[in-house]
Formats: sequence, C-alpha cells, structure tokens
Amino acid sequence: MACIADNGDPKLDIPPHFPAMNYPENNQSNQDRVDLGRKLFYDPILSRNNDISCASCHKQSLAFADTAAISPGTERRLGNRNAPTLANVGYNPTVLFDGFLETLEKQILVPIQEHAEMDFNIVEVSKRMKADPIYVAMSKKAYDREPDAFVITRAISAFERTLISSHSKYDAFLQGKKKLNAAETRGKNLFFDRLQCSQCHGGFNFTDFSVRNNGLFPIYADSGRMRVTQLETDRDMVKVPTLRNIALTAPYMHDGRFKTLRDVLHHYESGGGKHPNKSAVIQPFTLTEAEENDLIFFLKTLTDKQFITDKRFSKPKK
Ligand code: HEC
Ligand code: HEC
Repeated sequence: MACIADNGDPKLDIPPHFPAMNYPENNQSNQDRVDLGRKLFYDPILSRNNDISCASCHKQSLAFADTAAISPGTERRLGNRNAPTLANVGYNPTVLFDGFLETLEKQILVPIQEHAEMDFNIVEVSKRMKADPIYVAMSKKAYDREPDAFVITRAISAFERTLISSHSKYDAFLQGKKKLNAAETRGKNLFFDRLQCSQCHGGFNFTDFSVRNNGLFPIYADSGRMRVTQLETDRDMVKVPTLRNIALTAPYMHDGRFKTLRDVLHHYESGGGKHPNKSAVIQPFTLTEAEENDLIFFLKTLTDKQFITDKRFSKPKK
C-alpha cells in the first residue's frame, strides 16, 4: 500500500533559529494530506449540527485563537477553557492546557466529541465524508484509503503542522534583518534579564513546554494537569503558553480572565496568590507605567502579520 503520495513536502517556513519539526512515523507530511486537513479544518461537517468548524474557535486573523474568553461550541454551549493559538503547534510535545496528551492526532477527537464543542462522533464524520465524492477522492489520494478516523485525525494534524509563525519583527531582529527600537529593546531586557519571564517563556517558541503554576488563584476551578493524572503535585499546573502573536490572542490565561496585556503584567507585578504549587520564580516586583509600556512594545514584536494573512492557511475555495 502506498503510504506517501508523491507530490512532495509542503513548503514550510522554518528559519535557521527554529528546530526541525518531528513528524510521527505514521503521518509523514505531503501536500495532499495538508490540503485534505485544511478542508476539514474549515468544514462544519465535523459537528453534529453542521454549525461549528475548528475555525469557529481558531481564527486565522487572530493567530488561530479567538476573542472570547470561552468560545461557544454547538448550540452556543460553553466549555471552561480559553481557545489557544495554533501557531507552531506542531512543535508542542504535549497539547492542551493539561500538558499531558502527546500528539495532535489524538487531540482531534477531543473537540469532535466534547459536548460543549462539536458534540459528534468521528465515525459519523467519516460517513458524511464518504457520501461526498470530493472527500473520497482526496482521502484516497492522500492516504490511499476511504475516509475514516485514521484519515481525519492524520490529515487535520498534517495541516496543523504547517501553521508555522516565524515572520514576526522579533524573528527579523534575530536574523539581523530589522532593528528593535529603544522601547522594544528596553522591554526585551526586562523580559529576559530583570524579570526572568524567559525562565518559563523562553526558547524559539517563548515557552519551555513545561507545566507550571503562576499563582492566578489560591484555589483553581480547573485543576489543570491533575484533571488527567489525579496527582496532587499536578494540581492547578498548566502548560506554559507560547507568547508568539500574544497581542492578537486576548483574553489571556486558561480561563481568559485578563482582557489586556497590562492586566497580565499587573498580575505578575503582584507576585500572584498563595498556592502550594506556585513556581518559586513568580515573585512580586514593581514596574513604572513606562516600563510596562516597554514590555508591551516588546511583546508586540512577536506579532506575525504574514502568518495571519498567509493564503495557504486560509479557508480553501472548495
Ligand atoms: C468550541 C471551540 C473550539 C472548537 C470548535 C475547537 N477548539 Fe481547539 N481548542 C479550544 C479550547 C478551549 C482549547 C483548550 C482546551 C484545553 O486545553 O483543554 C483548544 C485547544 C486546541 C489545541 C491544543 C493547542 C495547544 O497548544 O495545546 C489544538 C491543537 C486544537 N485545539 C485544535 C483544534 C482542532 C483541530 C479543532 C477541530 C477538529 C478544534 N480545535 C476545534 C476550542 C475549540
Ligand atoms: C513560572 C513560569 C512563568 C513565568 C516566570 C512567567 N510566566 Fe507567563 N505564564 C505561565 C503560565 C503557566 C501561564 C498560563 C497560566 C494559566 O493559564 O493558568 C502563563 C501565561 C502568560 C500569559 C498569557 C498567555 C495566553 O496565551 O493566555 C502572558 C501574556 C504571560 N504569561 C506573560 C508573562 C510575562 C510578561 C512574564 C514575566 C513578567 C511571565 N509571563 C512570567 C508561566 C510563567
């Protein structure tokens, strides 16, 4: 059985300061797989009532996040977490705030089945696809088989792995193509040196991919990683989010509690609430308003306009 169709790898914008991306052995990428995944990502047939697609909550113009604190799913039902960006999601060693699920392929089942998201069943999605000759042809071309759970989970993941954001002003600065202005430079120094934000939000993707507690509350309504592991040491621990495109992805934190970046900074300035699992790195500090502005100017250099307008990631014509 041919597993890889032969029209080549999709062109990815992976610059030298990014690591290579690992693909699972059973889902090497090619353009047919990405095209099928892109079509599915934008298609409401994934939801029971044909009303919600992945893109309903992950919007390209917002770096594949959303402006709602909690994005409504089918029949306007609400879950309990904020939709994160999908920029560079193919690099994440784990997905979801729990920091537990290892692959994008497995994650696809979550929104399809969740009562407050698509409230559907992947077998039923394959039946709908099988009734559509375009999907049958695309599925055969990409994976040499009829539409089924294997094809759906792998194709959408192949598309997600192409969502690379590497054209922010800060990337251009790292490549010596652009200079940061004085305010952005002061903000950068606060971020990396004085405030040590980079202890958690470090590396090429502004996260070390660890799970941490940054002291939002003394008691969390959402127990984070403990939800899956049942371990007390994981209580209220969540995956450190990337800060790429952060100016586009308000509101902030797992529950979308902060509307602005300034609100986020005020949280960190306070040192957060008392919590047994709070990271020792989170300590109170004082910033002047001018310093807050500098740090926000720096965070805005992580916005990637090319990423949010790239036609390869937008809704396909058919
Ligand atoms: C109703 C809104 C909604 C829909 C529809 C939705 N998502 Fe999400 N997505 C979320 C929320 C909320 C989270 C965070 C959930 C969590 O961490 O438990 C999330 C998390 C994710 C993540 C994890 C990102 C990371 O860095 O950890 C991926 C990947 C993802 N969604 C992809 C998809 C795909 C693919 C679809 C369509 C099959 C989809 N989502 C449909 C709201 C939605
Ligand atoms: C100890 C690790 C740690 C340090 C240090 C840290 N953060 Fe965070 N940060 C987190 C975690 C964990 C979250 C997610 C918390 C949640 O949603 O419950 C987060 C969330 C954020 C968010 C919201 C992201 C989003 O998509 O919603 C921003 C913005 C942010 N941090 C900026 C900063 C800045 C600026 C600093 C330095 C002043 C900093 N962080 C220091 C761990 C850290």
